[in-house]
Amino acid sequence: MRPAVKPFHHPSTGTWTYVVADEGTREAVIIDPVLDYDWRSGRTGTKSAETVAAHCEAGGLRVSWILETHAHADHISSAPYLKSRLGGRVAIGQGIRSVQATFKKIFGLGDDFAPDGSQFDRLLEDGETIDVGSVRGRVVAVPGHTNDSVAYLFGDALFVGDTVFMPDSGSARCDFPGGDAAALYRSVQRLYALAEDTRVFVCHDYSPGGREARCESTIGEQRASNIHVRDGVSESEYVEMRRKRDATLDVPNLLIPSVQVNIRAGVLPRADADGVSYLRVPLNVLGRPL
Ligand SMILES: [Fe+2]
Repeated sequence: MRPAVKPFHHPSTGTWTYVVADEGTREAVIIDPVLDYDWRSGRTGTKSAETVAAHCEAGGLRVSWILETHAHADHISSAPYLKSRLGGRVAIGQGIRSVQATFKKIFGLGDDFAPDGSQFDRLLEDGETIDVGSVRGRVVAVPGHTNDSVAYLFGDALFVGDTVFMPDSGSARCDFPGGDAAALYRSVQRLYALAEDTRVFVCHDYSPGGREARCESTIGEQRASNIHVRDGVSESEYVEMRRKRDATLDVPNLLIPSVQVNIRAGVLPRADADGVSYLRVPLNVLGRPL
């Protein structure tokens, strides 16, 4: 089965959002939608999400699921906006509960934040099926970048989340709380066991060397040429490379706002008595000492 895949690039965060549709039944899912956010002003916006919604509406698509590959640390999810406009249920991997517990502590969240995944409509287990019309879908747990990371396989199209990027860009970092490079290596091997012509759609692309942003490769291309993890690279080689590289990386620009909102399934924190929603910034907790 070969579903229609429509990618949307969000340039300021390098994120790819996908609409995956069964052209026969017009049923669709949306994967990793982005909410615009200006960190200078604290303003959110839905322009990018409106483009995704308009595509679904113009094509007469019935959205059954809005799927997150993980609680992103680089952009805020627009799942609530799309759900209110298009319908669909919001789902994420069941590992979100441990991510919520970790970040509840880091952000000093109160008892009103339950780290039980209840903010989402559905928590997905490894191996679960989610069909899009007549296209069979499968959830593949791919921990390593985060504990809650899942990939989605719809027919011949694999949405890998933050595991591998385009072959010239390598793989996702593993230094967030709960990250584990050895686990990511093993997760990637599970994906690499799929058919070589499986289409691979990445979660991010940062246009290395100024090339245009790309989103699609194949399992065969990844196994042959991924600069971090390809056939012949051992787990220990990968883990050593990943640890060295992660030690040089800064905290993502939008980690603090993104994680706080995304562990709430994209819903902003409850407003204070003044009607304004606030985020928290834990001082001297994240990143390396200056
Ligand atoms: Fe991520």
